[in-house]
Amino acid sequence: MECHYAPFLYIHVPFCGMRCGFCNLFTRAGGDEATVARYLEALRREAGTVREAIGEVTFGRFAIGGGTPTYLSHSGLETLFEVAEGIMGLDAAKVPTSVEVSPGTVDVEKLSMLVGRGVDRISIGVESFDEAEAAAVYRPQESAEVHHALRSIREAGPRTLNIDLIYGLPGQTVESWLRSVREALRYEPEELYFYPLYVRPLTGLGRSGRSWDDLRLACYREARDLLVGLGYEQVSMRMFRRAGPSESGIVYCCQDDGMVGLGCGARSYTHALHYSTEYAVGAHGVRALIEAYSAREVESFGVASYGRHLDGEDQRRRFVIQSLLQCSGLSLGHYARRFETDLGEDLPELSTLIDLALAERQGDVLALTAAGIERSDVIGPWLYSDAVRRAMEDYEWR
Ligand SMILES: C[S@@+](CC[C@H](N)C(=O)[O-])C[C@H]1O[C@@H](n2cnc3c(N)ncnc32)[C@H](O)[C@@H]1O
Ligand code: SF4
Repeated sequence: MECHYAPFLYIHVPFCGMRCGFCNLFTRAGGDEATVARYLEALRREAGTVREAIGEVTFGRFAIGGGTPTYLSHSGLETLFEVAEGIMGLDAAKVPTSVEVSPGTVDVEKLSMLVGRGVDRISIGVESFDEAEAAAVYRPQESAEVHHALRSIREAGPRTLNIDLIYGLPGQTVESWLRSVREALRYEPEELYFYPLYVRPLTGLGRSGRSWDDLRLACYREARDLLVGLGYEQVSMRMFRRAGPSESGIVYCCQDDGMVGLGCGARSYTHALHYSTEYAVGAHGVRALIEAYSAREVESFGVASYGRHLDGEDQRRRFVIQSLLQCSGLSLGHYARRFETDLGEDLPELSTLIDLALAERQGDVLALTAAGIERSDVIGPWLYSDAVRRAMEDYEWR
């Protein structure tokens, strides 16, 4: 699908009620009122500088993510909308707007305020409905709290409810995983994200030194078949969408880039430049970066000092990876119009995917087969350029 170019505004909130053992996102557990207030003041300064730099822009989509945005108080959340609307010129009621929440941080009042402000998608991390499974990944979570949060979201009434679940958790079986999937389905979510458990450096699980062989493939296949049988559309290896009216408003295509990220840990993307603040996973590093961000003067936000320039090859590879990992596949016509080069010459290795029956040509589209989609996490990195591979190897986690 080709779509209109309309940039995406993203605000990052790097605070959570807890630090889950699997999570390597840029966030910290806790953060008192004064720390959060200083962060929000810095966010206003950053937004002012960025808005001046980019001028009048009509944003096509808005997301507040983290971390856990709803860790903020009612008035903290209001501040985010003041930044987005008052400073960046967004109209949240007119564009698709999404907010990430966690079970322990929401109630009907907070959620209704968000929906009243124009939020039409609430995404909640549940991970597992089994208390022991959640506890095993250092995510203490009571079942009653999870169900209360889900009922509250439905009561507040955003058009889209998304639920995140993780498979491959320690102690999980295919049966207990499917019980979680079925519990989630009771709320008839418009979207579901199923993540295989990734064990990453410097997270609680990564430091534990355990081995992580598991039932991930069986969990994936069972849940996929269940959802497809119920009429859900598989959008990618991780995402499933319930059949129904599609989102209104301007369609945002991530291949077309154009994301303005605000906040410490937010990433921004243009065609040729990806940049962010510096990144850390360990608690000490994250706190230090948030403190440094909160102390930044207004002028300092005019410069991005951490990022990567994408040359032509990396721009083409990024486009191919992002398209191919969606079940709808890669439009050869779209690629040719965008880059004016020949895909077969640019990435000859794609023919290997066809030879291995991991991808197939359907008219103008090259799409992964079911066997290819379930290997998405191997195929994506396999298509990285040598330069990106080297940069990743050289990256020092902190
Ligand atoms: C920003 S959180 C979602 C909202 C909220 N912070 C929460 O946890 O409820 C992003 C999601 O990424 C997924 N995630 C993060 N790290 C992961 C990992 N190592 N393996 C699998 N999924 C992961 C989880 O499903 C999580 O819900
Ligand atoms: S999974 Fe969510 S709540 Fe847990 S640490 Fe990551 S962002 Fe925070």
